[in-house]
Amino acid sequence: MPPRPKTSFVCQQCGFQSPKWTGRCPSCEGWNTFVEERVVAPPKGRSGLGRAPRAPIALGDVPADAEERLATGIAEFDRVLGGGIVQGSCVLLGGDPGIGKSSLLMQASAALAEKGTVLYVSGEESAAQVKLRARRFGIGGDGILLLAETDLGSIIEAIRRVRPIFVVIDSIQTMNSDAIASAAGGVSQLRECAARLLELAKGDDVPIFLVGHVTKEGAVAGPRVLEHIVDAVLYLEGERFHAFRILRATKNRFGSTDEVGVFEMGDNGLREVQNPSEVFLEERGRGVAGSVVVPTVEGTRPLLVEVQALVTPTSFGLPRRTVTGTDPQRLLLLLAVLAKRAGLNSGSHDVYVNLVGGLRIREPAADLGLAVAVASALRDRPADPRTVFVGELGLGGELRRVQRLAVRLKEAERLGFERAVVPAASLADLNGTGLEVQGAASLREALERAGVADR
Ligand code: TYD
Ligand code: MG
Repeated sequence: MPPRPKTSFVCQQCGFQSPKWTGRCPSCEGWNTFVEERVVAPPKGRSGLGRAPRAPIALGDVPADAEERLATGIAEFDRVLGGGIVQGSCVLLGGDPGIGKSSLLMQASAALAEKGTVLYVSGEESAAQVKLRARRFGIGGDGILLLAETDLGSIIEAIRRVRPIFVVIDSIQTMNSDAIASAAGGVSQLRECAARLLELAKGDDVPIFLVGHVTKEGAVAGPRVLEHIVDAVLYLEGERFHAFRILRATKNRFGSTDEVGVFEMGDNGLREVQNPSEVFLEERGRGVAGSVVVPTVEGTRPLLVEVQALVTPTSFGLPRRTVTGTDPQRLLLLLAVLAKRAGLNSGSHDVYVNLVGGLRIREPAADLGLAVAVASALRDRPADPRTVFVGELGLGGELRRVQRLAVRLKEAERLGFERAVVPAASLADLNGTGLEVQGAASLREALERAGVADR
């Protein structure tokens, strides 16, 4: 009797492996996430690497040119990577479907094609579809080779044959290695394909970009399971029906994860936005209740965004809280603090909060701006349009210090704002600014300064 092929069960959500099927993953607690995957023995040979094992070298003898970078000339893209693409690196570009990952990498490919051959592997779209998009973006295609293929073996062979200076794999979820018996897109396939490509990137010194789709629920095996394998992880984000896109690094072995790139979508592709604050504030209505400008920091870059709140009496059932661009849980907390510490109760009102331009902010320094916007909407009294608000709110209604205050205020000054309300504790961090800075120790005090407090 031939031996039964070895199988293992892998959680499609987090990659946890188990010899038995289980209804609930002990690691990520997802239900019904286990899929059986056949384990195929690695090829015979000492290490199963398919190449000669390497010998250790002294740290001092490692060649210093190891960090040569390939700049695309798309400044926002290069900046996020830490100054260009590092030779032999493997980078994951994640994002929701349709957000612009293929477009961005096609534009990067076109920029690099001037320096050498670029190989664009598409497992999702046919060569004709890719070409159509490129043509729409005004990309002629000289120096870009297209390969519509999903079989990893053929792709690796093509890379070895063509010797490109840059490779795009679009997307890693469609790739398929025959060393693993399960379907493309499964965790084992993803890991195997990424690991082989990483090996190739390092061995042949060619930079490889992997595109990975993330779904909102993260239910399908996503790029998350690859994050620890690759050298850098970038995410392209934005609201689907808005034009702005933010490129952010969440991991970077060759640079900081602090930088973001801002792009605007257009008919002929992504365009760099060099002065994001100006663009985000362009359509601001002044003197409208519920509108507040918040100086946030994305990485090391200050960014002024407009927060809008709308508060209306609840006409039926439970009050609604609708948020775009920031954490809904955080809004609930701010509403509670507003009610308890500033006497502004929204318990019988619907609250809508929106970040203009499709941006997302996560930092707590935006708390005060959000709270002032809601208070202003609730009181139906506009906050001063020439003032910016910044500060983190504690549960006691106290205002806490924020980082990089000077940078934020400088940007506000540059854009013509005159006044800033900041946490009192942060005043000591400032030495001189052109704005009139007012410190507030508590939410109540800040609301008074904003002119939206209870009278
Ligand atoms: P695409 O790059 O295919 O998204 P992803 O690879 O992340 O799924 O972009 C989706 C669609 O949007 C595609 O039809 C091209 C179009 N698009 C533009 O027209 N202009 C742009 O600037 C971008 C980024 C995309
Ligand atoms: Mg795509």
